[in-house]
Amino acid sequence: MQKLIVGLEERSYPIFIGSNLLGCAELLLPYLTAGRAAVVTNTTVAPLYLESLRAKLHDHGVETIPVILPDGEQYKNSETLGAIYNALLSSRCERNTPLIALGGGVIGDMTGYAAATYLRGVPFIQIPTTLLAQVDSSVGGKTGINHPLGKNMIGAFYQPKAVLADIATLDTLADKELRAGIAEVIKYGLIRDLPFFEWLEQNVEKLLAKDGDALQYAVLRSCQNKSEVVAADERENGERALLNLGHTFGHAIETGMGYGTWLHGEAVAAGTIMAADLSCRLGWLRKEDVERIICLFKRVNLPVSAPAMGVEKFMQLMGLDKKMVNGKIRFVLLKRIGCAVVSGDVDPELLRQTLVLNSARG
Ligand code: NAD
Ligand code: GLY
Repeated sequence: MQKLIVGLEERSYPIFIGSNLLGCAELLLPYLTAGRAAVVTNTTVAPLYLESLRAKLHDHGVETIPVILPDGEQYKNSETLGAIYNALLSSRCERNTPLIALGGGVIGDMTGYAAATYLRGVPFIQIPTTLLAQVDSSVGGKTGINHPLGKNMIGAFYQPKAVLADIATLDTLADKELRAGIAEVIKYGLIRDLPFFEWLEQNVEKLLAKDGDALQYAVLRSCQNKSEVVAADERENGERALLNLGHTFGHAIETGMGYGTWLHGEAVAAGTIMAADLSCRLGWLRKEDVERIICLFKRVNLPVSAPAMGVEKFMQLMGLDKKMVNGKIRFVLLKRIGCAVVSGDVDPELLRQTLVLNSARG
C-alpha cells in the first residue's frame, strides 16, 4: 500500500492506494469515531462491494446506513441529492455521522456535495471504485451536481477526510469505463508531467489489460500530480484550472448530447484533442505533437473528435463554462507536451476552425 498526503494544513488528508484495501477498513477508523456512518453508493456498485465493506466496518464497531442511488450521470441532479438528504434525515444522521462515497465520480461528487450541505457540513470519506474517480474526482474536494443548463454547475469545494483507492475494485469495471479513466490519466502527462506521458506511451496496453502494478503506478502518479496542484491552488484561482484540459469542449459535449450519452472521460478525450488542435493553430504545439497525442488516445480507443453538434451550439454551450471571466471563454491550452497554460484571448476564427475540423471525424 502507498500513502500520499494532500497538504492543505488543517484540512490535509491521506490517500491510501493499493490492492484489496476494502479489506483494510481499519485504515478508516480514525475518521469513523462516531461509531456510525452512511454509505452512499448505487445499484451497480452495491451488489459488488457494499456488504463486504459494511461487514468489515461492523467488525470494527461501526454501524452503517446504506443509501443506494440509481446509477448514471443523468441522476447526478437535485432530485437524487434530495433522496440522499431524505435518507440521512430519516435515519437521524447527525453532524458527526460521516458519509462514505462508495463508487465512481458521480457518487463521489454527489456524496461530497451532500456532505458539504447536510446540517451545514458533515465529514466524508471517498472510496473511489472507477479509475477516473481514483485518479481524479475523489481527490481535491470538488463536489457537486449537474444542472440541465450546464455540467457540475451547482457545487462546493469540500475536502474529504480520507481517500481509499482499492485497485482491486477495477477488476469488475467495464472496459469502456476503464478507457474513460485513462483519458484523465493522460491529462496529467499533457499538462505537467512529460515523463509520465512517455511512460504512458510505453505502458498504456498494460493499463488496458488491467495489469495491477501498472494501474497502481498510474493511480499513484496521477494522485501525486493532482495533490501537488490542489495543495498549491485549492480553490482554482490559478494553476488548478490546468486540470480542466479538454473540459471546456468536453463539458459542452456532455451537456449538448444529454448527460450520460457520452462518458465524461470520452468527452474529455475529444475535448483534449480539440484543445491540442487549437494550441497548434495558435502556433504553440507542433503538428507532430498533436499527432502524437491523437495516436495515444486512439490506442486507448477513445474518441478523437467531437460529435457533430454544430458550431453555434458548441459556442453557446461553452459560454456556460465555469472558467468564463468577464464574458470571455478561457481555454486550457498546450505550449508543448507537459506544459499547459490558460488563455482567455483566443482568435475566434481559429476557434471556429477547431470546432469545424474536429467534429465527427476519425
Ligand atoms: P460513474 O461514477 O458514472 O461510474 C461509471 C460506471 O461504472 C457507473 O455505471 C458505475 O456504477 C460503475 N462502477 C463504478 N465502480 C465500479 C466497479 N468497481 N465495478 C463495476 N462498475 C463500477 O463515472 P466516473 O467516470 O467514475 O465519474 C464521472 C463523473 O466524475 C462525472 O460526473 C464527472 O463530472 C465527475 N468528475 C469529477 C471530478 C472532480 O474533481 N470532482 C473530476 C473528474 C470527473
Ligand atoms: N478535475 C478538475 C479538478 O479537480 O480541478
